[in-house]
Amino acid sequence: MKTRALAVRLAFAVTLLIASASAQHFTDPTIEARVERLLKQMTLEEKIGQLNQYSDGMPTGPGTGRANYPEMAASGRLGSVLNLVGAEKTNALQREAVEKSRLKIPILFGLDVIHGYRTIFPIPLGLSATWDPALVERIARHSAVEASAEGIRWTFSPMVDIARDARWGRIAEGSGEDTYLGTLYARAYVRGYQGTNLASPTSIAACAKHYVAYGAAEAGRDYNTTDMSERTLRQTYLPPFKAALDSGAATFMSAFNALNGVPTSANEFTLNRILRGEWKFRGLVVSDWGSIGELMPHGIANDGATAARKAIVAGVDMDMESDLYLKNLASLVRSGAVPQPVVDEAVRRVLRIKFSLGLFENPYAKAAPAAAPGQAALELARTAAERSFVLLKNAPAANGKPLLPLDANVKTIALIGPLADSAVDMLGSWEAQGKPEDVVTLRAALEQRKGPAIAFAKGTDVVSMSDGDFAEALKAAGESDVVIMALGEKATMSGEAASRSDLGLPGNQQKLLDSVVATGKPVVLVVFSGRPLALPWAARNVPSILEAWFPGVQAGPALVRTLFGEAAPTGRLTTSFPATVGQEPLYYDQLNTGRPTGNIDLSRAPSSLDEKYKSRYLDSQNAALFPFGHGLTYTRFEYSPATVGEKAVSAAALNAGKAQPIRVSAEVRNAGQVAGEEVVQLYIRQQGTSVARPTRELKGFQRIALAPGESKQVEFTIGRDELAFWNLDMRNAVEPARVTVWIAPSSALETTPAQFEVTPK
Ligand code: NOJ
Repeated sequence: MKTRALAVRLAFAVTLLIASASAQHFTDPTIEARVERLLKQMTLEEKIGQLNQYSDGMPTGPGTGRANYPEMAASGRLGSVLNLVGAEKTNALQREAVEKSRLKIPILFGLDVIHGYRTIFPIPLGLSATWDPALVERIARHSAVEASAEGIRWTFSPMVDIARDARWGRIAEGSGEDTYLGTLYARAYVRGYQGTNLASPTSIAACAKHYVAYGAAEAGRDYNTTDMSERTLRQTYLPPFKAALDSGAATFMSAFNALNGVPTSANEFTLNRILRGEWKFRGLVVSDWGSIGELMPHGIANDGATAARKAIVAGVDMDMESDLYLKNLASLVRSGAVPQPVVDEAVRRVLRIKFSLGLFENPYAKAAPAAAPGQAALELARTAAERSFVLLKNAPAANGKPLLPLDANVKTIALIGPLADSAVDMLGSWEAQGKPEDVVTLRAALEQRKGPAIAFAKGTDVVSMSDGDFAEALKAAGESDVVIMALGEKATMSGEAASRSDLGLPGNQQKLLDSVVATGKPVVLVVFSGRPLALPWAARNVPSILEAWFPGVQAGPALVRTLFGEAAPTGRLTTSFPATVGQEPLYYDQLNTGRPTGNIDLSRAPSSLDEKYKSRYLDSQNAALFPFGHGLTYTRFEYSPATVGEKAVSAAALNAGKAQPIRVSAEVRNAGQVAGEEVVQLYIRQQGTSVARPTRELKGFQRIALAPGESKQVEFTIGRDELAFWNLDMRNAVEPARVTVWIAPSSALETTPAQFEVTPK
């Protein structure tokens, strides 16, 4: 473990170096001088021209502002274009800007490259379940190489919104509910997209979005209001953005939501004060699609000019698709309503990114269409999919053995369900340039493996109430040794504008599942979804459940290898799966409340006043059905009690950066029959502090591989970063506290904790 810890530290040091190297792009004196020289030559109209972004090609929002792009480019009124893909198209428009416009400022082409460009990987929520930021970094790098070859030098990714409500469809696009994990993934994506040097032709600018607190939309309804304390904002929602910035993220996107009454695309507090003031961000802020225009329906602007003024003054540099900067900024500046330096500063930020990307030197893309994924890309996609799967349940069957992995010699398999052969759904919510024909479905892969042993029946559709295929499905089940069911959501049921108020299996799928299980055949349920579903019936009645998210182009091969045990599931949930939608928002790091339920049996009605007056539901458990951090493997791990190296550490010394961190460790043993990988998780709880802290908070994890019978001492350290929080004085500091430490396989499992004290002095 010592060498591993050293390697981790070294990797961390290298990371810091790279991070600061890329951050330097935005203070590079040569670039700054070029920005100033160019700015001096620009007319007001040309300046405003740089502050506009319009969609060409496939729109990703309602309505579009313009169509006369070549003319706009040639007259220097088109700073950026999104959704235009293909080297020929981007190059043609670029020529208008670079060859015809007076100042020859290149266009920056952007696209939502979210989980792949041509090679489509699992959705981000699935990727986060790998608990493998290094893998995510490789995927982001791969995506950058593919996208940049076609002229895309800006992706609207990563989405680093913390999401704690499964009703919100965009939970699919982020890394789950946890802030600590969210920061690790934010860094990984940014490093992968931007590489070590933004000017390299294969680097694309990252965009940390949606700034900020968009994921806390009330009732999980997309675009809805968010309201939270400054402490929660700083403690939970801001850190992944800060981490993206620290890794050099070139751009941020302001969001749709109002935060505490102020729309985030005109929010001086979050943009000017925090992002620019406290964090010193020098990159560019783009609005989300039309979000400047939406200041009007929000109710803080009665006309487009006011909306434009409020947005630019608050720090939104580029207008995506509202068409309001182009229409209003010149007269706003001439009337003095918007100070000229505000516009100049926004233009600087746009030019700074364009120079940093080397666009002035390399404005054109290679003129070759993106090829279908090659061998290396497919292997990366398959590995990512395999590592994203989470084995939710794998109960022993009658013979005492769990159903998974399937016996390689199993004779007949019934494959049932509307998602078993749906290529388009495997691509998930952002397919960029992915093609359904690149996808190998579960059915295709299973038939390739087992040939005529497979009987496939769709059973029903995902959303309709049809039961026309039930009979065929039940016949197939009845004639098989084992049934694999492929159920869940369509890809379009999560992502943007895809909130749900019900988290069950849509359509008639639950009935199909009931009927198939009633045949008495052993059933493996493979769930495809962009969010946690509420599956209490399946959790009780189906022996084995594998959460597969939307796995991307290699869905089928990855699933078949996992089902047959050539790849073992090692994924862990990064989002809590509820027993019922009524528990939402649901997340593991809750406060204890003054009336915690302790060990009360919540499955029955309260039978005393002590049981009644608790923070509980009358008709549901409090706990997640499948908690954050949960995920089974094909073996079994045992944890020794945690031990701490030191019993006390001083808060003052930690705050001054002068204390050694506390060492904590536990022994983890593979107590099963096969080799396996475990994600060992570190959680803490602090008590006695000035503000209440969660009952558990993730502060570290390690992935270890153990042979059967083998054990390892797994060690973590807990120092200032792990202990500091936003306290009563709104300072991020370590306070005296009693600290309980768990080293555990999930946020909910009880291992024996250890304790230490943080003393005042
Ligand atoms: C709106 C979405 O909210 C955002 O995530 C996306 O990047 C833009 N549309 C551009 O497609």
